[in-house]
Amino acid sequence: MKQEPSPARAENPRPSGRGEVNEHPDQQNHRAQAYPEDQRAAVYRVIAERRDVRQGFLPAPVPADVLNRMLAAAHQAPSVGFSQPWDFIVITDRAQRERIAALARRNRDGYAAGLPGARSRAFATLKVESILDTPVNIAVTCDATRGGRHTLGRHSQPETAVFSSVLAVSNLWLAARAEGLGVGWVSFFDERELAAELRLPGHLTVVAYLCAGYVREFGPGPELQASGWARRRPVAWAVHAGEFGRRGLPGAEPVDALAEVIAAIRPPDAVAVAAARERQDRMTKPPGSLGVLEDVSASLAGLAGECPPPVPEPAAVAIFAGDHGVHAQGVSPWPQEVTAQMVANFLAGGAVVNAFAAQAGAEVVVVDAGVAADLEPAPGLLPRKIGRGTADFTQGPAMTRAQAVAALTAGIEVARDLVAAGNRCLVTGDMGIANTTASAALICAFTGSSPAVVTGPGAGADAAGRARKVEAVRLGLALHQPDPADPVGVLAAFGGYEHAALAGFILAAAALRAPVILDGVIAGAAALAATALAPDAVAACLAGHRSTEPGHAATLAFLKLRPLVELDLRLGEGTGAVLALPLIQSAARALRDVATFDSAGVSDKKA
Ligand SMILES: Cc1cc2nc3c(=O)[nH]c(=O)nc-3n(C[C@H](O)[C@H](O)[C@H](O)COP(=O)(O)O)c2cc1C
Repeated sequence: MKQEPSPARAENPRPSGRGEVNEHPDQQNHRAQAYPEDQRAAVYRVIAERRDVRQGFLPAPVPADVLNRMLAAAHQAPSVGFSQPWDFIVITDRAQRERIAALARRNRDGYAAGLPGARSRAFATLKVESILDTPVNIAVTCDATRGGRHTLGRHSQPETAVFSSVLAVSNLWLAARAEGLGVGWVSFFDERELAAELRLPGHLTVVAYLCAGYVREFGPGPELQASGWARRRPVAWAVHAGEFGRRGLPGAEPVDALAEVIAAIRPPDAVAVAAARERQDRMTKPPGSLGVLEDVSASLAGLAGECPPPVPEPAAVAIFAGDHGVHAQGVSPWPQEVTAQMVANFLAGGAVVNAFAAQAGAEVVVVDAGVAADLEPAPGLLPRKIGRGTADFTQGPAMTRAQAVAALTAGIEVARDLVAAGNRCLVTGDMGIANTTASAALICAFTGSSPAVVTGPGAGADAAGRARKVEAVRLGLALHQPDPADPVGVLAAFGGYEHAALAGFILAAAALRAPVILDGVIAGAAALAATALAPDAVAACLAGHRSTEPGHAATLAFLKLRPLVELDLRLGEGTGAVLALPLIQSAARALRDVATFDSAGVSDKKA
């Protein structure tokens, strides 16, 4: 995703001219209803150039006639059952704005305190409200009782009252842009505190708090994009044909997300890699003295296509969770319920990965790819359940091909959304009782290793338990006769919804050229599937650590990845990958920040 196009080239389709050849007569009639081209262009222009503005306001007052035109535009918004649920409270008094600014500041500080490292630093540079910098503030409210019982449409969808007030905001925002006024929407409020300050009757809610004023200039794109906080998703990701998931723009073939990411994956940029190597040699340190970190930073440059590459922060750990039918074979000493219980622990911030992520300044999200329990909604939980646990692969395929593709696609979408949300580094995590058995089967299928070599104790199986694991893997391999040239088939045979979703996550990271740090044996097994689908995806992968699980060493050797940390970890969750995050960030920062012999005036070693 590149920088926002300039308003003149905004992604809106240009209105086409009239009287095209071979036009159907009905179409000609419809065209007669359309605005002339210049007026249509003005409509699309104001839509493209409307901005949320928070800086560069001028002190000039807003004349009443301008304000009235904006309010009249807002008042012409559509509303459910024509209920017109909005009211507009226009605030200019400085003392009142100071009280309101204090309310916003409290909530903003609370929000900032909960942000992980890189986000917190980035937030400190953002301006999120302009209550005192603008001459006029407008609170837009909603009265969801207006119009009485028979308000058409609100009956079945009460929230449409609020939607209607939001449309009034949108009209006001567009009119303001056309008038040359910037508007910023501030939502850092406890809604009831603000309602009390505005003396709203109890049945009214505050929908929006807007700060308006003349500005020096309008930015070419969202301020949050310019600051790297978040990026615009391509419109094609948001348009579906007929049913959710059949993505694609009208007139174009539906886009298969898996095929799309595979097609987008490219080898590393050799020029950027060479530039990184060359810069490493000019940096004020003996050549090669940063060891493996020199390779890491060169890989990051190759992936980014530029030297120096961006420092991979902020980072997000996505813990993919799923349950496994093979658990029935006695392959884990832990009951299956532990998967859901640990998900709750991750969401409550109580697991080891949470502690490590807090230390490293990374965000943690949990993806329910296929937990065999209903999970309550919670902040940080991404519900993407493909099934309630896989089937037992010793008896039949763990999942259908369609489920494997659905899980791959879910992983792709999680990666895309985390990158659009501004993350520059993705970190794999996993949770699934019995998933080391599924991993061992996948590793055997992709690398040709033997079950006895790659099947380990996982989360504490004793000798008998391990023997049952080896036997389950043997049975599965004999039953499915996996073909590594059919990676989707291999994933379907042995599963793990979390393995398939992780494979999609890795592929999307590679397609978006975002580094992805692999954790242990589960992520490794998923990476084998991902690289079987797109060999160049390996260029986006960094091996966070080497787990003691024997299949992991085999996987890393097969993928030719060197682990950054070796601490005999065997926990999963993303813990080993998170530990490697500061090493990778340091490697990138060194390439970017360290002086060169010429720039620092330091004498180079004699040739
Ligand atoms: C419902 C809503 C609430 C928002 N709240 C805030 C806010 O509290 N602080 C802020 O800085 N921006 C806020 N924004 C502005 C968005 O960050 C902004 O619309 C987005 O980054 C896209 O940029 P653009 O409006 O310039 O296209 C809000 C926007 C909406 C629609």
